[in-house]
Amino acid sequence: MEQVITVEHLRKTYRSVVAVDDVSFEVQRNEIFGLLGPNGAGKTTTVECLQALRGPDSGRIRVLGLDPMTEAQEMRARIGSQLQESALPDRMKVWEALDLFASLTPGATDWESLMEEWGIADKRNAVFSSLSGGQRQRLLIALALVGEPEVVFLDEMTAGLDPAARRAAWDLIRAIRDHGTTVLLVTHFMDEAEHLCDRLAVVDRGRIVALDSPQGLIEEHAGTIRLTFSSDDRDLSWIEAVPHVSSLHRRGPKVEVEGIGPVLVHVAAALANHDIIPNDLRVEQPTLEDAFLAITGRRAEE
Ligand SMILES: Nc1ncnc2c1ncn2[C@@H]1O[C@H](COP(=O)(O)OP(=O)(O)OP(=O)(O)O)[C@@H](O)[C@H]1O
Ligand SMILES: [Mg+2]
Repeated sequence: MEQVITVEHLRKTYRSVVAVDDVSFEVQRNEIFGLLGPNGAGKTTTVECLQALRGPDSGRIRVLGLDPMTEAQEMRARIGSQLQESALPDRMKVWEALDLFASLTPGATDWESLMEEWGIADKRNAVFSSLSGGQRQRLLIALALVGEPEVVFLDEMTAGLDPAARRAAWDLIRAIRDHGTTVLLVTHFMDEAEHLCDRLAVVDRGRIVALDSPQGLIEEHAGTIRLTFSSDDRDLSWIEAVPHVSSLHRRGPKVEVEGIGPVLVHVAAALANHDIIPNDLRVEQPTLEDAFLAITGRRAEE
């Protein structure tokens, strides 16, 4: 595996505020790596240090083998950054923005084809302020890709989008990766991190408190799978002996079974063997939200 980003013991303070405190992680080529955490956790500060937009107090950073502190110019030619929406003038047209960025970016690609690819070609003469949220997002991503970057940094790119536009943005991010670009994504949305990231670091109060694949975090931290169904059978205590079952609770006809791993298949098969065919069998899988809560003691969107 080739490491595209290496961060060792990064620390950044703003006067008395410790924004980033001893953060270390690595990002491999062609992965979608996420920084997930609540407001103020230090995510933006971290990616700003990586992009040479801020100088860290201490620590070692390499992006594509380059040191942002001393080789920023060379590095900038090989990375792409998603701009904040406010960074574009309202009256600027779509094609003008792309043309301007291309003129500022060494080795810029043909932006006409980027416009096609990101579905904004029919908006080429539209001014920025007239674009919908999703169209703005597409333009901002296209601008980040103008220099054919090897790594892109996307900070809260789906904030403010409606659910459909967010899903569309996820597809766009996957498409960036499928082009061979490594993606470092900052988000505080659980579903986004869970569906999109290959691996993610959970950041809380300036520190990384967990780092794994979404599934790995869920399995390690989120606890059990819960099955519920209704049954009038008097004795169901045999369910406790079914493989992977950890507990059984009953409240009248309502039965609740907790377990891990392939508990659903085992319980369903055992019920069928006992001629119990509930038509209201439900499964509650633990989510990344549950894992996050277990890791940090609070919800990310709080
Ligand atoms: N320019 C600054 N001057 C002083 N303090 C700052 C500055 N930028 C950030 N901070 C502080 O540093 C901490 C980390 O902020 P940062 O923006 O990195 O968090 P974040 O994880 O990106 O949060 P959010 O999810 O709200 O974007 C916060 O306590 C914030 O108030
Ligand atoms: Mg931020």
